[in-house]
Amino acid sequence: MHKKQLIAITRRMPAACEERLAARYAVRLGDDETAFTTETLARQADGADAFIVTPSEVLDAAAIAALPASVKVLSTISVGYEHIDLGAARDRGLRVTNTPDVLTEATADVALLLILAATRRAGEGERMVRAGRWKGLRPTRFLGTQITGKRLGIVGMGRIGAATAVRAKAFGMSVLYHNRRPVPEAGEIGAVFVDTLDALIAQSDVLSLHCPLTPETKNLLNAARIALLPPGAVVVNTARGGLVDDNALILALQSGKVSAAGLDVFANEPLLDPRYLTLENAVLLPHIGSGTIETRTAMGMRAVENVEAVMDGREPPYAVV
Ligand code: DGY
Repeated sequence: MHKKQLIAITRRMPAACEERLAARYAVRLGDDETAFTTETLARQADGADAFIVTPSEVLDAAAIAALPASVKVLSTISVGYEHIDLGAARDRGLRVTNTPDVLTEATADVALLLILAATRRAGEGERMVRAGRWKGLRPTRFLGTQITGKRLGIVGMGRIGAATAVRAKAFGMSVLYHNRRPVPEAGEIGAVFVDTLDALIAQSDVLSLHCPLTPETKNLLNAARIALLPPGAVVVNTARGGLVDDNALILALQSGKVSAAGLDVFANEPLLDPRYLTLENAVLLPHIGSGTIETRTAMGMRAVENVEAVMDGREPPYAVV
């Protein structure tokens, strides 16, 4: 009998995605606890025709070189692919695919969640109530700042930046953005283009990051740029941790230059800088921007469609390489 193609996955996928794969292929699932190394990634992919991965796995040149030759496609369940060395993949003829478009609304929801949680001190308040330290309402205690009428600066006006702008407008914020070039649709939702990143930062009561992590954007929010923020500004990051110089942001949170931060992503996840854990004015989430059952299922389905296409000898619908 014809031997089924083997699809290896580093993690579990939403049930509908696992079922769709199992209907056609032999499937090797990973578990959700183990952190992978170059060696264990190669072992997980042993004999596989396709390898489905997530942003938690580092597929640098060494890890790609160690993969078995049988693997034809690296299908990441994410829109971001900075965890994959594209040059190394290209050199060995390995296709790389991603899952764009379907996580826009879920991620923009988390950007708003963090804007509100940071400005209204929600994390700090929740910890106080749980610790039994709440003494009741006092007119001058536990005051946050209102976002109505404040300026939101969006760095990167792609799909998620635009969806965040729409939400912020509904909360009465004025929205400014910086992007490599002006985006016509942004004008339609009332977001105003600012032609330099520094000028945007200087006008942002709340600064929200929505650009990809590339060598050019690494540590984009550094000490010099933080110094440009209005006093007491709020920083929100739902994109990638590497966009922020952690040391600079932590010092600014400690001094009050930045009054609060809302962070869903960190450099070197999940091993974030431990100083964040000591800061009452930092709201910290475990990279849940796309974490709804609807969105993760849609992302998983795209990852599966990419694999099916390569297995059938077709062009994958969401090809990166
Ligand atoms: C992505 O798709 O890159 C997200 O960060 C995962 O939620």
